[in-house]
Amino acid sequence: MTRPPDLPADALVFFGATGDLAYKKIFPSLQAMIKRGHFDVPVIGVAKAGWTLAQLRERARDSLKMHGGLDARAFEKLVGLLRYVDGDYADASTFAALREQLADARRPAHYMAIPPTLFAAVVEQLAAAGCTDGARIIVEKPFGRDLASALALNRVLLKSFDEAHIFRIDHYLGKNPVHNLLHFRFANSFLEPFWNRDHVESVQITMAEAFGVQGRGAFYDANGTTRDVVQNHLFQLLTNLTMEPPVRADSESIREEKVKVLKAIQSAGAEDIVRAQFVGYLREPGVAQGSKTETFAALRLRIDSWRWQGVPFCIRAGKNLPVTCTEVLVRLRRAPSVYSQHNMTPNHARFRISPEIVIAIGMNVLSPQDETVSLPEEMTASRHPGAQEMDAYERVLGDAMRGDATLFAREDYVEEAWRIVDPALKADTPVYLYQPGTWGPGEVESVSPPGGWHDPRID
Ligand code: BG6
Repeated sequence: MTRPPDLPADALVFFGATGDLAYKKIFPSLQAMIKRGHFDVPVIGVAKAGWTLAQLRERARDSLKMHGGLDARAFEKLVGLLRYVDGDYADASTFAALREQLADARRPAHYMAIPPTLFAAVVEQLAAAGCTDGARIIVEKPFGRDLASALALNRVLLKSFDEAHIFRIDHYLGKNPVHNLLHFRFANSFLEPFWNRDHVESVQITMAEAFGVQGRGAFYDANGTTRDVVQNHLFQLLTNLTMEPPVRADSESIREEKVKVLKAIQSAGAEDIVRAQFVGYLREPGVAQGSKTETFAALRLRIDSWRWQGVPFCIRAGKNLPVTCTEVLVRLRRAPSVYSQHNMTPNHARFRISPEIVIAIGMNVLSPQDETVSLPEEMTASRHPGAQEMDAYERVLGDAMRGDATLFAREDYVEEAWRIVDPALKADTPVYLYQPGTWGPGEVESVSPPGGWHDPRID
């Protein structure tokens, strides 16, 4: 195993500087890091837009106004750190100009905020221009579009970077409540006795979004829900919920356990997936005529491990659903029926990741009005993320700059995740239709957990 970088990066290069990700996430994260005093190195934006540095600065100003607000002092500092290289990624002179801008930086971080189809060309040009020595690379998800392309992409990256210098971003890992799943599981002792196949009946994960593809039709159409959020974001939730306790708290020990649990998951087949598209998707700009890309996916998985064998894991995600919410429901087996006259519900643990953060334990209590009636109640810990809280992108970008790999997907993890979804994605399953504002097509019941799907409610 290679060692992670010892020293922080001394420059940030981001390809795709004029794009959507830079606008929505990168500029706001940079300003936030500067504000906290966590960032003080040159930032070099690269794009092929025919822009000047002044235009990029304007774009940054606009981005901050739209996403989180402009902080005059931090913005001024950001503007002072910002450089810009305009040029084609296939053109060696673009990279010669970048090399010049890097000046005496010895450990640049190259952030690929560009479509994966461009990665190979950019990495080759970076290497040829001498920009990869001592450097690290940060790549956006989805990492490839199946196992074969992920392997090919890795080969390209490994020619110029060793594994310890490759940071595969999954911003879900930067979310506090996602990280907290691990903390909650391993910092408390009360969960462990029932966290297994003897007591857990099913686990379901729902990532619902009440909006459509928001102008990202071309990107979305090339990917679909399973590649966009299930194989990465929701698998991160799944592994945090199901991995064994790590032997140590360092990044490799944690990442080791995550890979182990993925290895125990059987590959999903056609019968394990339901795909659907919201009515109206085909009219979205950038979407191919007659596209069969899914905007909703539900997947049923099995983990063949000592802890989890026989427990169904059901994952569902979609655009244009009734609410925007990501939630996990762990349903326990029903208590023995000595109180059968009370019509009791199974106990559960509920973890809401967003919009607010909730951990709840569901139980039955006797109705104060009628002692023949049992009422389902929840014991809840919840909070709304504060304005001061780090955004997920800020956190992962900061960690990559520092060289901490804990919140990044390792090569073997990504490969196992593709191995699991590949057969289901390649089975050419039907794409059903659903009306916007509903919980997907009726066919989703074929992969539902016992007792059915739990639809998160926003009160
Ligand atoms: C992105 C997906 O990775 O995550 C989007 O490409 C999705 O389609 C987004 O909307 C959700 O992330 P968050 O942090 O806004 O819940």
